[in-house]
Amino acid sequence: MNKNDFQELLDNRTISELYYFDEIGSTNDEAKKLIRNKMYESDGASAACSEASPMLFIADTQVSGRGRMGRSWSSPPSTNISMSLVHKTELPGECIPGVTILAALAVTEAIKTYSERYGVALPDIYIKWPNDVIINNKKLCGILTELEYPYIICGIGINVNASSFPKEIQDKATSLAIEGRAIIDRGILAALVTEALTKLISTYEETLNLGFIIDRYNSLLISKDKEVILTSENIDFPDGHYISRGIDMSGALIVEELSSRKTIPVRFGEVSVRGLYGYT
Ligand code: BTN
Repeated sequence: MNKNDFQELLDNRTISELYYFDEIGSTNDEAKKLIRNKMYESDGASAACSEASPMLFIADTQVSGRGRMGRSWSSPPSTNISMSLVHKTELPGECIPGVTILAALAVTEAIKTYSERYGVALPDIYIKWPNDVIINNKKLCGILTELEYPYIICGIGINVNASSFPKEIQDKATSLAIEGRAIIDRGILAALVTEALTKLISTYEETLNLGFIIDRYNSLLISKDKEVILTSENIDFPDGHYISRGIDMSGALIVEELSSRKTIPVRFGEVSVRGLYGYT
């Protein structure tokens, strides 16, 4: 992977700027730094943020990659994709979590495009709500979306060519190379993800709801119509047996309690499929 892999995205204005690093702490942190400097230099967000198309930060390797809930995210040299798509937005606050839903869909659809175009046979690929991408009940991709208003930083880590994982996570993590028994071109895949995500975000900015992707997303949802276990640090879900019914227009996961048939929208927390004891 190198800078040239993204020239076409620059030429056709899918992205306005490219920041490529052989090694960096975290592409999300680097993006935040740049945004803050720009705002400081030009004395105000509106003056600083004139880019119409997103900026792409991408690194061959990250040495302090961050995951959700304060966890770290490892990406060894020349192996995986670590990228942050930075988009200036006018989306209202309540629509921001929807971007994370779009990112999972973009990654999943980009991987399917790659596998069809380059003949890499992969097992079925799913999304674990809201935004983990999984294959073979193991995590393939994690997404960390952060807001540095008016920019959304969509950090995407995909396990692409990793051939093994540390013992602690080997039952929970997998890569495209392991599942597809082929080496994947990271530059091509990262460009496909960027294209897919920028398109989805621009439609979302017109519709301001996720109606346009509900069916696509729900058809990829690992928990769809299965019994799920709901956990959250902040919310006490009433006791019961819950069935996942898929997302609504806002991106909340609708779950139905079996005996009362009542439905609740889940906006935060962890939703795991009952009976799948591994990662999902
Ligand atoms: C998760 O915990 O599932 C989210 C992992 C997100 C990792 C990506 S890699 C690119 C970007 N930079 C980071 O430091 N984190 C995100």
